[in-house]
Order: sequence, then structure tokens, then C-alpha cells
Amino acid sequence: MPQHIKRLIIAFSLFLALFLVLRQVLRPESFGELGHFRAKAIPENAMRPMHYTVTDSCTKCHGGIRSEKDKGFHKNLKCEVCHGPGLKHATYAGQFKNGALPDSLKLYKPGERKDCIICHQLNAARIKIQFDTINTTMIHQIDPVKHNPGDPDTKEAFKCIDCHSPHQP
Ligand code: HEC
Ligand code: HEC
Ligand code: HEC
Ligand code: HEC
Repeated sequence: MPQHIKRLIIAFSLFLALFLVLRQVLRPESFGELGHFRAKAIPENAMRPMHYTVTDSCTKCHGGIRSEKDKGFHKNLKCEVCHGPGLKHATYAGQFKNGALPDSLKLYKPGERKDCIICHQLNAARIKIQFDTINTTMIHQIDPVKHNPGDPDTKEAFKCIDCHSPHQP
């Protein structure tokens, strides 16, 4: 066998040996048990604390808002999309029916223009709604610079919720 082929074989064997050693050392213990990933990742993620609940759990105490919302354009939005993670609130707020909620249980009330613009900002790359139909899968866009920016006399900025009810816009 020519000399250079022998050297190649030696070099490749060394690399293969190195690879096998490294693979043994670096491979996570549960890798491969359930496919091409670490099986322990599942229980690890399941152990993380939960922050979100489901809209139905809000309905228990805020049924009025739920039925108001379900009649309007925002019917497909979940409460927590706007108000943030609410599991802790939904679990404990019931104990404060008569008093004010402690700060740690208060949820965000997205009343500023920026909160609505996140979804309604005019975006040339988004599909435009061509016909004036209620289609809750596509979002009507407004140009926030032109759409009722503020009081022309006092120059004070309007909030979107001055004119639109957030639960039934
Ligand atoms: C066990 C009853 C209960 C459940 C379930 C519940 N809430 Fe509340 N919520 C309350 C009470 C009590 C208050 C304080 C008094 C009030 O504003 O009505 C409150 C207040 C709020 C407020 C106003 C907070 C503030 O800072 O003024 C928001 C927003 C809210 N809830 C959203 C939600 C959302 C979203 C859910 C579902 C994730 C939810 N709630 C589930 C009882 C509940
Ligand atoms: C589009 C975003 C949006 C969604 C979706 C939404 N909310 Fe709200 N919610 C708001 C805003 C904005 C306010 C503040 C209104 C204000 O300050 O007048 C608010 C206020 C509230 C309040 C305080 C009461 C009040 O009238 O100030 C409660 C309670 C509440 N929301 C519950 C809910 C529940 C329950 C759901 C789901 C059924 C929900 N919200 C869905 C935006 C939203
Ligand atoms: C998470 C995304 C999201 C947020 C945040 C949001 N919206 Fe909407 N909005 C929608 C969707 C989806 C619809 C239904 C499709 C449509 O009609 O544009 C809608 C519909 C509307 C409509 C009816 C448009 C029409 O067809 O006449 C108005 C008005 C509106 N939203 C105002 C608001 C206001 C005010 C806020 C802030 C409090 C807000 N939205 C926050 C997603 C959102
Ligand atoms: C001064 C009152 C006022 C304010 C403030 C206001 N709007 Fe409106 N909005 C209206 C009226 C009236 C209409 C319906 C007529 C029209 O299309 O202009 C409308 C229509 C809409 C529509 C539907 C547009 C369409 O294509 O059918 C959306 C979405 C909307 N507004 C979102 C918002 C958002 C988001 C904000 C805050 C950045 C906001 N509005 C602030 C009064 C207001």
C-alpha cells in the first residue's frame, strides 16, 4: 500500500477514535431515548412554574367582560394576550372581592396607544383586508400617525380606548 494512503488511514482512525471518546464524554445521559433529543428535557420543562391559565378561568369571575368580548371584533383574542400571564391572579384574586388587589396580583391594563398598535400598526408587508367584512383572522391596520393622534386644539394625545372599548372595539 502506498505510504500516503497508510498515513491517511492512520489520521482518519485517530479522528474516529477522538470522535468516539468525545461523544461518550459530551453526550447527555438521556439523549436518544425518545429520538434525536434529550429525553430529560421534557420533565425539566414540565417542572418550570406555570404563569398562564386559560380564558375560561377568567370567565368564572369576569363573565360579563367575556360575553361582551365574544360579541365583538376581539372575540378571538385571549384575555391574557392583552393582560399578561394571569394564573396567579385567577387563583388568588377571589379573596379580595371587597378590597383592592395587592400589587402582586394586579394585571396590566393595556390602555396606551402602543399597546393597541402592536397589532394594528399599518404594515405594508401584511395582507390588506379588501372587503368590508368581519374577518377576525386578519387585522385591520391603521396609520397611528394619522388615525386620531390627538386633540388638534390642546395637542394632547388621544388614547385608543378613549374611543374604542378594548373588549368590544
Ligand atoms: C377568582 C376570581 C377571579 C378570577 C378567576 C379572575 N379575576 Fe380578575 N379580578 C378579580 C377581582 C376580585 C379583581 C379586583 C376587583 C375588580 O376590579 O373587579 C380583578 C381585577 C382584574 C383586573 C383589573 C386589575 C387592576 O389592576 O385593576 C383585570 C385586568 C383582570 N382582573 C383580568 C383577569 C384575567 C385576564 C383573568 C383570567 C386570567 C382574571 N382576571 C381572572 C377576580 C378574578
Ligand atoms: C385587546 C386587549 C384586551 C383583551 C383581549 C381583553 N382586555 Fe380587559 N382590558 C383591556 C384594557 C385596555 C383595559 C383598560 C380599560 C380602561 O382602563 O378603561 C381592560 C380592563 C379590564 C378589566 C378592568 C375593569 C375595567 O373595566 O377597567 C378587567 C377586569 C378585564 N379587562 C378583564 C378582561 C377579561 C376577563 C378578558 C377576556 C375575556 C379581557 N379583559 C380581554 C384590554 C383587553
Ligand atoms: C393581539 C392583537 C390585538 C391587540 C393587542 C388589539 N387588537 Fe384590535 N383587533 C385584533 C383582531 C384580530 C381584530 C379582528 C380583525 C379586525 O377586524 O381587524 C381586531 C379588531 C379591532 C377593531 C375593529 C376593526 C374593524 O374591523 O372595524 C378595532 C377598532 C380594534 N381592534 C381596536 C383595538 C384597540 C383600541 C386596541 C387596544 C386596546 C386593540 N384593538 C388591541 C387584534 C388586536
Ligand atoms: C377620536 C376617536 C378615536 C381614537 C382616539 C382612535 N380611533 Fe380608531 N376609529 C375611530 C373611528 C370613528 C373609526 C371608524 C371610522 C374610521 O375608519 O375612521 C375608527 C376605526 C378604527 C379601526 C378600523 C379601521 C378599518 O380599516 O376599518 C381600527 C383598527 C382602529 N380604529 C384602531 C385604533 C387604534 C389602534 C387607535 C389608537 C392608536 C385608535 N383607533 C384611536 C375613532 C378613534
